[in-house]
Amino acid sequence: MHIDSREMEQQQNYQRAIQAYPGEPRYLLAAMQDLQKEFNYLPRLGLKILAQHMGLPVSKVYATASFYKAFSLVPKGKVVFRVCDGTACHIKGSETLVDQLQKYLKIPPGETTQDGAFSLETVNCLGACALAPVMVVNGRVYGKVTPGSIEKIISEYGGQAYEQPTE
Ligand code: FES
Repeated sequence: MHIDSREMEQQQNYQRAIQAYPGEPRYLLAAMQDLQKEFNYLPRLGLKILAQHMGLPVSKVYATASFYKAFSLVPKGKVVFRVCDGTACHIKGSETLVDQLQKYLKIPPGETTQDGAFSLETVNCLGACALAPVMVVNGRVYGKVTPGSIEKIISEYGGQAYEQPTE
């Protein structure tokens, strides 16, 4: 089988990301978290290498990756907007925040812009209900977010190039 140099390099990157973990199934979740943290999603080849390393069938590793909402099997944007849609945030208007973000980015929750710059997601309670509605952008928490502040937050992450919504 022919493996080109790019694939070999990727293979080495994935191996490096999981090498700290012993080849035992109980480390599977932790290793998957590291893989995702480093590559922003779980690449197919990375999961295959992980399965071999842990001595598990690839199907088991895929099943685990699909089960947890925190894992993604598709590449995500460089900037990920996560809007909490737990009960407290929902009551405080998280839906409007999602609407605003959709209008700016022109993608529904769960999608990534074509240029790979932004992803939009809704998530369950982030454990910061006192700050509802809450949004997390690349790990930074924004509390008591108002629809009017969305534009400013997007521009902090280089989104000013996106067209403003017409309505
Ligand atoms: S419901 Fe949003 S942080 Fe708890």
